[in-house]
Amino acid sequence: MSGITIVGSGRYLPGKPYTNQDLARVMDTSDEWIRQRTGIEQRHYCPEGQGASDLAVPAARLALESAGRTEADIDYIIFNTMTPDHILPGSGPLLGAKLGCPGTPALDVRSQCAAMIYSFQLADALLKTDGIRSILIVGAEAHAGFMPWRNWNALDGLEPVSADDYQRSTLHRGFAVIFGDGAGALLVERSSTPGTGLLSLDLHSDGRYSDELRIPAGFRRRPYATSELVEDAEFIPRMNGREVFRHAVSKLPQTVRAACERAGVGLDEVDWFIAHQANDRINRVVRERLGVPPEKVPSNIRSYGNTSGATIPILVDEMRRDGRLRAGQLVCFLALGAGLHWGAAVMRI
Ligand code: COA
Repeated sequence: MSGITIVGSGRYLPGKPYTNQDLARVMDTSDEWIRQRTGIEQRHYCPEGQGASDLAVPAARLALESAGRTEADIDYIIFNTMTPDHILPGSGPLLGAKLGCPGTPALDVRSQCAAMIYSFQLADALLKTDGIRSILIVGAEAHAGFMPWRNWNALDGLEPVSADDYQRSTLHRGFAVIFGDGAGALLVERSSTPGTGLLSLDLHSDGRYSDELRIPAGFRRRPYATSELVEDAEFIPRMNGREVFRHAVSKLPQTVRAACERAGVGLDEVDWFIAHQANDRINRVVRERLGVPPEKVPSNIRSYGNTSGATIPILVDEMRRDGRLRAGQLVCFLALGAGLHWGAAVMRI
């Protein structure tokens, strides 16, 4: 039996891009600092009143169109997000309803930035089930809700920023400059060409490091939401950037080697290493440790920042549409995120 493969893709980035200079209006940061430390130049934010499922709709429609399928062909929805529309229910059933295919089974995956690797494994298992032929995997994030500034008009330069707001945002600048919003969608099916599709996976989760990147609020508290908790920024991510960086540059090369070994392919045979876009510096260290040339590790973080669960499908869509990603190529996907969750997948497209 052949492995699962990508038959369609789409992406959607909301609104206008916000530059590093825009962020420097509301916190103590600079274009130079952000570029040098992360490679990011701009990012998009989900508009007020919209959520991850809204961003996912146009991305999903484009994925269906590019595969020559319709909503009626979707047998299962896997929705990757760490910023769902609501605490409950998940965004998957909302997407099904908005796409016009209510009743389609939908599952939210909470493996943060590593969710796409987990979704490949889930899709591989699901596509062995009778009656499941096409799975829509979506990554969509609306991080705007946890950005530390309270006055979005100040970000737009329409109003001056208050000293209090500036101080608060500066306290959280480490993560605030990194994240951006967007959605990517992949339609996956079992390949009909022998030797193609998903060849191997290597997946890991380790909750011992869960405090390196987390949103502290949750159901450990009674009640789980109070105005004090909001004031104390319990709903804003806490990130130990240095530790996350350290884990990423040691664990990602290991998981790539393991996945390639399991697939029986050498690193030099891989055409593309499609990595989660968390930070260009992380991906540079990872490729140097693997001895892989820079041209095999595509990057688009400059334009979008870290869109968490959406980075890999957005990048895949760009590469499919501009002709870089072509049938027959060998791809290694790799990602690490909060959890910690990390892993790699090797696929012959
Ligand atoms: N603008 C300006 N200065 C900033 C800043 C910002 N946005 N964020 C932090 N700084 C300052 C710090 O206060 C510190 O100043 P000090 O030396 O006077 O104390 C200095 O820059 C260095 O801070 P540090 O946190 O050590 O920087 P870093 O080199 O580790 O880079 C990250 C910070 C967040 C860019 C980097 O650690 C990173 O990318 N880590 C991985 C995060 C990640 O991938 N998260 C998502 C996982 S999916």
